[in-house]
Amino acid sequence: MKIGIVVYSQTGNTMQVAEKLNEALTASGHAAVVERITAEQENTKDGVKVTLTHAPDASAYDMIYFAAPVHAFSLCPVMKTYLQAMDTLNGKQVACFVTQHFPKAWMGGNHAMRQMRDAIQKKGGSVVASGIVNWSAKTREAQIGHVVAELATASPVQV
Ligand SMILES: Cc1cc2nc3c(=O)[nH]c(=O)nc-3n(C[C@H](O)[C@H](O)[C@H](O)COP(=O)(O)O)c2cc1C
Repeated sequence: MKIGIVVYSQTGNTMQVAEKLNEALTASGHAAVVERITAEQENTKDGVKVTLTHAPDASAYDMIYFAAPVHAFSLCPVMKTYLQAMDTLNGKQVACFVTQHFPKAWMGGNHAMRQMRDAIQKKGGSVVASGIVNWSAKTREAQIGHVVAELATASPVQV
């Protein structure tokens, strides 16, 4: 089973969690590949066209993790653009997480997660697990541990 972790990360927080997820998957005998989405513009507002400079090919994987930051109380425009532009996710297991600065999920994380789930489901993907990391929360490290553990055990199909 091929597992991909497809990440957009502007300042490194989301990538840090993705690397921990990769370590957890490796420790449990899975081989995952971390791929980074890149774009010409980093700080785009909703509605402004994003040009992707690297859009990982999700068709290569049986299970895919998508990860991105919250921007302006929403899923960041780069991940939105990537998910809208990608091919089908039919038959794939998908899990996802977002990171956000504010300490509570209702401060953008929940909305971004709903947008991410909707975009994945529109492509035919089935979301088996998701998580939110609140970067400025005192419990951040515990949250990261919890999200990583949940997501790493989300795949019902073992390698
Ligand atoms: C343009 C922009 C808008 C942001 N808007 C929000 C927001 O609405 N709510 C929030 O909690 N954090 C917000 N953040 C903070 C990021 O979500 C947070 O720092 C995240 O962990 C960054 O992930 P990254 O390092 O992978 O890019 C924003 C950051 C940027 C650059």
